[in-house]
Amino acid sequence: MKWVIAFSCLLMVAGCSEETPRDVQALVDAHGCGTCHRIPGIPGATGRTGPPLKEYHRQVYVAGILPNTRETLARFIEDPQAIDPRSAMPDVGVTAEEATLLADYLRSEP
Ligand code: HEC
Repeated sequence: MKWVIAFSCLLMVAGCSEETPRDVQALVDAHGCGTCHRIPGIPGATGRTGPPLKEYHRQVYVAGILPNTRETLARFIEDPQAIDPRSAMPDVGVTAEEATLLADYLRSEP
């Protein structure tokens, strides 16, 4: 019985030490966000083509155009040119749902 408890504790500790949600990490990897952006909490996201995406909840405007809300940030991530046709960020092919997940992560980062 003791080993079962010990093993469960180990699993819980492993679970708690996970800082970046796996699906966010997977999305960033799959869509190459980290090749262009520095993103806190995402190992390997060290790109310099776009602006660093840290403390995003403190930012007033998304891409200098729209007030920064969960919805506007997700819309920009999903389709940058729909917000600003001159944006240098390409449409990287995320769905609306994936964009919302990424927006939530960026806005929750300290
Ligand atoms: C090929 C490079 C490239 C890739 C890949 C890329 N971006 Fe960008 N991104 C940019 C550039 C350049 C800008 C600045 C242009 C702008 O603000 O319109 C930008 C702007 C942004 C902004 C707005 C920053 C601000 O100042 O408000 C966000 C948020 C963002 N990107 C998130 C992402 C996410 C999330 C991904 C992956 C799903 C991603 N980007 C993939 C190049 C890229």
